[in-house]
Amino acid sequence: MKYLVANWKMNKTDQEVRDFFAVSREALRLAKGVEIVFCPPFPLIPTVRSEVVGTPLKVGAQDLSSEEDGARTGDVSGKQIEGMADYVIVGHSERKKLFHETSQEIAAKLVQARRHDLTPILCFETPEELKVVNDPTHLLLAYEPTFAIGSGHPDTPANAAAVAKSAREILGHTVPVLYGGSVTADNVKEFLSQPEIDGALVGSASLDPAGWVGLVHAAST
Ligand code: PGA
Repeated sequence: MKYLVANWKMNKTDQEVRDFFAVSREALRLAKGVEIVFCPPFPLIPTVRSEVVGTPLKVGAQDLSSEEDGARTGDVSGKQIEGMADYVIVGHSERKKLFHETSQEIAAKLVQARRHDLTPILCFETPEELKVVNDPTHLLLAYEPTFAIGSGHPDTPANAAAVAKSAREILGHTVPVLYGGSVTADNVKEFLSQPEIDGALVGSASLDPAGWVGLVHAAST
């Protein structure tokens, strides 16, 4: 089983989400051998949920608070996401760069995700960053080199496979490792054909429904 995670970042409106599924849902629900996860912005999670109900398609959040509740204007807790999503992206490099997220916060977010029944998709670039993991079960990793994110210049599949292998060695566990950074319908197969790579975390190439169906099709054949 391979994972294909669509990270929509701060894109799409409610209507655009409905339009996306109107043209792609039937093709996506028939995809074989892939777990497809949509990570929309928080306000659009209910819309995505209602669009994928009755299909094998899954929902994820893009982030969660490191805290359970309290005076944290603008933050969203795991408790609030619980039951609305299956997965949550944790520690994306954009959170680190733009919002100065620290490794202590990331470690606390992993704890919150588990407490609220959300499978974390922990992003990392260097093995050093895996120190935040204290429980390697029920976890996905996503190796995302910053140079490759949104640049059109992906890492090589061979290097991504080597990083995935060493991440597993460090954690001492058979955790699934995804690759992310400029994945497209044209290159996804090269990454997924590496036995060490269990899926892809996809930004821009997940936004257009026809493009995403093409990518899913390329990955599942
Ligand atoms: P990209 O983004 O596919 O647009 O490079 C990937 C990511 O940031 O997760």
